[in-house]
Amino acid sequence: PVLARNYHEKVISHYEKPRNVGSLPKNDIDVGTGLVGAPACGDVMKLQIRVDENGIISDVKFKTFGCGSAIASSSYMTERVKGLSLEEAGKIKNTEIAKELCLPPVKLHCSMLAEEAIHSAIRDYRSKRDTMTNPKQRGF
Ligand code: FES
Ligand code: FES
Repeated sequence: PVLARNYHEKVISHYEKPRNVGSLPKNDIDVGTGLVGAPACGDVMKLQIRVDENGIISDVKFKTFGCGSAIASSSYMTERVKGLSLEEAGKIKNTEIAKELCLPPVKLHCSMLAEEAIHSAIRDYRSKRDTMTNPKQRGF
């Protein structure tokens, strides 16, 4: 019963009141956008980060078109990475999310989507920065 209640509270709260749903302007130079899909089920997750001048994630938004576990995983991820450096954020494993949300094994790939989404957002942010600081890549 205790387990059931924990499952209920944590997962249901992220289901019913997902945190940080929405979008950031994807052309902003300090915004990184991650867009990933799960081949197994066709669900799609978009996760965006805004990074301040100290390299800290200051804002996070997500939009997930997918199952409840994927939505809960992305909601959890947005809360988890806010205030972290990119390096710290890149180290968060899907297994941590799955454990926190008590996801059953068949829902592991839903948490994997959140891990891939943050990696993809960090990559996008970094490649934008590189393009800004390396004129060659801007086509000069
Ligand atoms: Fe993705 Fe269930 S298979 S919502
Ligand atoms: Fe596919 Fe959850 S993301 S079932």
